[in-house]
Amino acid sequence: MNRSVGSEGSGPPVATSVGAVREAVRRARGEGRTIGFVPTMGALHAGHTSLIEAAKRDGHWTVVSIYVNPTQFGPNEDFNKYPRTLDADLAACRSAGADLVFAPDNAEMYPPDDQTRVIPGPLAATMCGLNRLGHFAGVCTVVAKLFNIVLPDAAYFGQKDAQQAVIIERMVRDLLMPLRIVVCPLVREADGLAMSSRNARLTPEQRTQALCLYRALCAGRDRLLAGEQSTGRLIAGMRAVIMETNPTIGIDYLSIVEPRTLASIASPRGRVMLAGAIRLGDVRLIDNLLVDLPER
Ligand code: PAF
Repeated sequence: MNRSVGSEGSGPPVATSVGAVREAVRRARGEGRTIGFVPTMGALHAGHTSLIEAAKRDGHWTVVSIYVNPTQFGPNEDFNKYPRTLDADLAACRSAGADLVFAPDNAEMYPPDDQTRVIPGPLAATMCGLNRLGHFAGVCTVVAKLFNIVLPDAAYFGQKDAQQAVIIERMVRDLLMPLRIVVCPLVREADGLAMSSRNARLTPEQRTQALCLYRALCAGRDRLLAGEQSTGRLIAGMRAVIMETNPTIGIDYLSIVEPRTLASIASPRGRVMLAGAIRLGDVRLIDNLLVDLPER
């Protein structure tokens, strides 16, 4: 079933069923359009709208999904507290030029007899996978379902979720899915904090402290560019920046990895990724920086 968006009814149509999306996509293809797809969990911010805008710039008829996927949350994670702001999201989709919004409910995505899961390989066993068991299986499962519903030519993901993007690219290659994955640059607040739907859950004090992750990554990058070769010392330095901000901040991980394989790096060279995840109360934030090291 579809409904239109906004008081004037001038926004993109909203489909809530698989059948309605397939029918709308079939019509768009009939008009000669290619299909772009931006999967989201809503609480849209400028990072998300940059993905919609990138799909539109690439000339696609663009579908945005808004669905808080239960299978990617662990039992003690923030599924129930995850921000849900559908009306504002629909307005953001309209401004960014989305052509269709897919906002299914759980029964549509996971009917009662649903039992199949997409289990990613070792790329999911590191970084966020260490503390979020099963998270990437939930992500791959829902993204594979969404790809099968929308059948896009290209799907757009943010570099903020760098590990997710690498795992989705791997899934698409391994399962021979006929689409292109486009990874778009991470978008930051004016002070440098990586945009995240979870930022809305921070208290004002936590919001100030949250910046320590970005500052830690920048400190690591600066020391790396100044010639520090020991990843142990680099990570210890990043850890110190966070602890100096507030020793009660939980550090899930701080890593220096090869950006494509996510393998930890012993001797940094070429392009490397500095990445981390911290916990402020029950809000978990991630961030990363790509650094290109000069030839020595
Ligand atoms: O990045 C997200 O918001 C989610 O992990 C995704 C890709 C929409 C799957 O639920």
